[in-house]
Order: sequence, then C-alpha cells, then structure tokens
Amino acid sequence: MTGHQWAVVTGASSGIGEELARGLAARGYGLWLVARRTGALERLAGELRDGHGVPVRVRTCDLADPEARGELARELAGEEVAVLCANAGFPTCGPFSENDPVLEAASVQVNVVALHALTRALLPGMLTRGHGRILVTGSTAGYQPVPTAATYAAGKAFANSFAEALHAELRGTGVSCTLLAPGPVRTGFYAVGGMEALQERRFLAWLTPRRVAEAGLRGLERGRRVVVPGPVAKAQCLAGRHTPRALLFPVLRTTVLPLFRDARRAQSASRARR
Ligand SMILES: NC(=O)c1ccc[n+]([C@@H]2O[C@H](COP(=O)([O-])OP(=O)(O)OC[C@H]3O[C@@H](n4cnc5c(N)ncnc54)[C@H](OP(=O)(O)O)[C@@H]3O)[C@@H](O)[C@H]2O)c1
Repeated sequence: MTGHQWAVVTGASSGIGEELARGLAARGYGLWLVARRTGALERLAGELRDGHGVPVRVRTCDLADPEARGELARELAGEEVAVLCANAGFPTCGPFSENDPVLEAASVQVNVVALHALTRALLPGMLTRGHGRILVTGSTAGYQPVPTAATYAAGKAFANSFAEALHAELRGTGVSCTLLAPGPVRTGFYAVGGMEALQERRFLAWLTPRRVAEAGLRGLERGRRVVVPGPVAKAQCLAGRHTPRALLFPVLRTTVLPLFRDARRAQSASRARR
C-alpha cells in the first residue's frame, strides 16, 4: 500500500461522493470509501482498483452513530491522509414539528457532527506533515434559512461557515479547506428526502454529480476558498445571502414550501427502502 497518497471520501456510495472518489482515483489517490451501504462501496472499490490501479479500502460506517463515528475518527487519525472529502449528508423536509425526530437528529449527526469530528481527527496530522486538502460539501441551502427544510439548511449553514473559516485559519500552513456549495444536483438525495417530484422542475437547472465533483476537485487542488458550481447555484447563493428576510420568506413560502410539504411522508418510506 505504498506509493499512493490517501484520500477519504464520506458518502462515497452514491451521487457526488461516488464521483469525488472516481475523480480522486483518476488522479492516482488511494481511497477510503465511507458510507453505510457496503455493497455499493464494494462495487465502486472494484471499479476503481481495476480502472485506475489504486488501493481502495471500504469502511462501512453509520456516521449518525456516535460510537461508530468515534471509532472511524480514531482509526483515520492514525493514518496519513492527504485529502478529506467530508461529503456525506441527507435532507429532512417538511414542517419541523411534524418530522420524524429520530431522522431530524440523525441529520444533525451526519451533516454537522460527523463533518466536524472527522475534520478534527485528520487536521492535526495534516498540519504536522505540512500538507493536506479538505473539501467540505455544504450547499446553497446553507446561505439562508429554509422553512420546511429548517434543520437541513441550518446544518449546511454550519458546513458553509465552518469550511470558509478553516480556509482562512489554515492560510500559510500547507493545508487548505475548500467549501463545495452546490445547488440542485441529480442524485439519490431527492429520493432520500422524499422530494422526487422536485426533479421534474426544469427551472432548477440540474447539474450532474460528475460536473459538481470535478468542480470541487479542481477547487481543492487549487486550494480555493469556495466553489459554487454553475450559474444558477451562484445566483441562489447571492440571493440567499443578500435578500432581506422580509422579502425572502414570503417568496420561499410560495415556492419551496408547497414543494416540500409532502416530502415528510415520503421520506420515511424511502429511507426504509435503502
Ligand atoms: N443533490 C443535491 O442537490 C445537493 C445540493 C447541495 C448539497 N448536497 C450535498 O451533497 C452531499 C452528497 O449528497 P448527494 O447529493 O450526492 O446525495 P446521495 O446520492 O443521497 O448521497 C449521499 C451520501 O451520504 C451518505 N450518507 C447518508 N447518511 C449517512 C450516514 N448515516 N452514514 C454514512 N453515510 C451516510 C450516503 O450513503 P449511505 O446511504 O450508503 O449511507 C450517500 O453516499 C450531501 O452532503 C448533500 O447535502 C446535495
């Protein structure tokens, strides 16, 4: 297992994470693939070993489980990891008081605590070695509060802010942190959130996970502060940051809320199927 630099990708079993793993393997990195679905990780590992000749470790972990997450963080802290893609995440949609409280809490564990814990575990080693790259998958959803996706948007606000703050804090250390803040991307995300119907909406100008992952990896290689792929996501980001709340909330109430209203019911069923 020598001769390769190692990259860790969380949420590598589908969507953006799967494409981040492909992109990193194409660049010659050995990979740790982290998610819950072992079968999907094993299939991807086989493809990357055969296609790129890189070593791949499959590390099944439920990042919502504090014990399992702690074990993973301790294990990774002892490894020479050059790249961390803290990408795993999932949405909860619907009125907060009616959403499944277990799912709501799990989303905070995965979208916020896991990102925080794994970065804390890997960063000291990167700083000691004087090089390392961190890519945090936040979201344009993190640039404003989103009624009916309150917990998700708040979690992504944490991710966005945390990544940008670390970027500035790490200046001159040889280690960088880049925020990847996508808008709508066609992945399993919408099925998980019970929002399949959203994917019919063409005005959202969907990007492919490959395009988003490649933009993120280019940003990571250059040590950029933030990557917002595509013009629609850039516009969302500007609007979310600068529109007064008094104007934003009525707009969200008439656009987003009706789309997310039924998501809650569909979400439990979809997670049970995975
Ligand atoms: N798709 C979009 O429009 C969009 C937009 C902005 C930001 N994002 C963000 O992009 C990231 C990747 O999402 P995606 O769009 O690629 O969706 P996806 O295809 O559903 O991928 C989500 C990944 O997160 C993993 N994950 C979820 N819960 C987990 C848990 N408890 N423990 C470990 N891994 C877990 C999933 O793996 P398992 O199910 O195998 O555990 C999967 O690999 C997320 O952080 C999401 O918030 C997505």
